[in-house]
Amino acid sequence: MPELDLPQRQATDALMLTGFWYRALPADQVHRHRLHKAMLLEMPLVLGRDRLGQPFAMRDACPHRGMPLNSGKFDGEQLECPYHGWTFDVHNGQCQKIPSLTSDQTLKVDRIYAGSYPCEEQDGFIWVFIPDPSPQGAGFAKPAEAPDAAPQVEKITGKYKTAYLTANMPVSIDHGIIGLMDPAHGPFVHQAWWWRTRHSIHEKKKNFEPIPNGFRMSAHTPSSNSAPYKLLRLYADADSITTTIDFTLPNIRSESIRAGKYWFSSLTTVTPITRSHCRIDVVACWNIFRWLPLGPELLKFVFSKFVEQDRRTMEMQAEGLKHNPHLMLIDDADRPAKWYFQLKAAHLEAKRTGQPMKHPMSGPVTLKWRS
Ligand code: FES
Ligand SMILES: [Fe+2]
Repeated sequence: MPELDLPQRQATDALMLTGFWYRALPADQVHRHRLHKAMLLEMPLVLGRDRLGQPFAMRDACPHRGMPLNSGKFDGEQLECPYHGWTFDVHNGQCQKIPSLTSDQTLKVDRIYAGSYPCEEQDGFIWVFIPDPSPQGAGFAKPAEAPDAAPQVEKITGKYKTAYLTANMPVSIDHGIIGLMDPAHGPFVHQAWWWRTRHSIHEKKKNFEPIPNGFRMSAHTPSSNSAPYKLLRLYADADSITTTIDFTLPNIRSESIRAGKYWFSSLTTVTPITRSHCRIDVVACWNIFRWLPLGPELLKFVFSKFVEQDRRTMEMQAEGLKHNPHLMLIDDADRPAKWYFQLKAAHLEAKRTGQPMKHPMSGPVTLKWRS
C-alpha cells in the first residue's frame, strides 16, 4: 500500500532499551581510590577504578538493606558497605564477608552478590553494559556477560587527536535521539554569522540503506553547509571528501569523513539517564589538524557551539513537552525519526517473540528535504 501524504502521529514512550552498552562517565572523571555516582536508565550506579586502574560499575545499593554503596569504604579491591560492613568484590559483586555471622552460622556468603555490571574504558569514556532485567525475585546473581565489546570510534591511521563534549538534555531519550538525526532544524537552530544564515537553505537528496540494527546515510559528498566539511575543505579537494553516517540502536550516531589521507570520525551517543533526562556525548578522533596548534580548539569551539544550540533548543522544547503533545512526523525530513521508532519497536518485538528482528527498511531509499 502506498504511504499516504499525511503526517504521522507519534507518541514517544520514553522506554529505555536494556541489553546494550552505555556511556556512564568521562574516564578522566573517574579516579583510583574514589567512588563516583552515576545514573543510567534510572538505575543508580557506583563507579570506580581498582588498584590497577581497571574500572568497575556496581549497583549503588547494598543487597542487604539497600544502603548506597558509594559512601562505603574502598580499599582498591573490595567495597565495604557503611551500614553493617558487608564486603563485596568490586568486579563481580560477590560478597566476601558478613561481619555479624558467628562461627557456627552456615550462611553461604559467596552465594550473595551485589549488582555488578560489565564495564570497559573506551575512547575516553567508562562504558557500562546494562543487561536485560533478571526474573523478578531472583535477587542479584553473578554479573551478566556482555555479548560484545563496547563500541569504538573508527580510527583509520595510528596517529590522531581526540576530544569529547558532553551536554545534559532535559528531555527523554526519544526526543534526544530524534533531535540528533533531524536534518531540518539546522537553518533555524544553528545559525551564526560566521557559519551560515537561514538563506543558505537548499534542497538536499540523500541515499539511505538498512544496516543491522539501524540505517546508514550512504557515502556522499557532505552538504556545503555542514560543519566538518567547511573545515576539511581548507585541507582537501572538495570533490574528494566523502562522509558516511550510521545510526544504530540503541543510541549511536557514528560519522566517518574521509578526504584523501585525512579523516575525521565521531561517535555520538544519547544516553538515557532517567525517563525525562538524557545526555549527549560526542567523541571525535581526527588526523587532520594534528600539526596545527589551533586545530583542535577550533573544532571543539565549533562543535560546542552546535551542541549548546541543540541543548538550549531541547530545554525550550521540554516546556512544550510537559503537556505531552503527540508528535507529527512528516516526510521526508522526519523519515529517519520514523525509522528510529520502527527499529525500536521491531527490536522489542524480536525480543518478545525470540524471532530474528524484522528490519523496517526493505532496501535503499532516497530522501529529499530542504535545509
Ligand atoms: S545495608 Fe549494607 S551491610 Fe547492611
Ligand atoms: Fe543540531
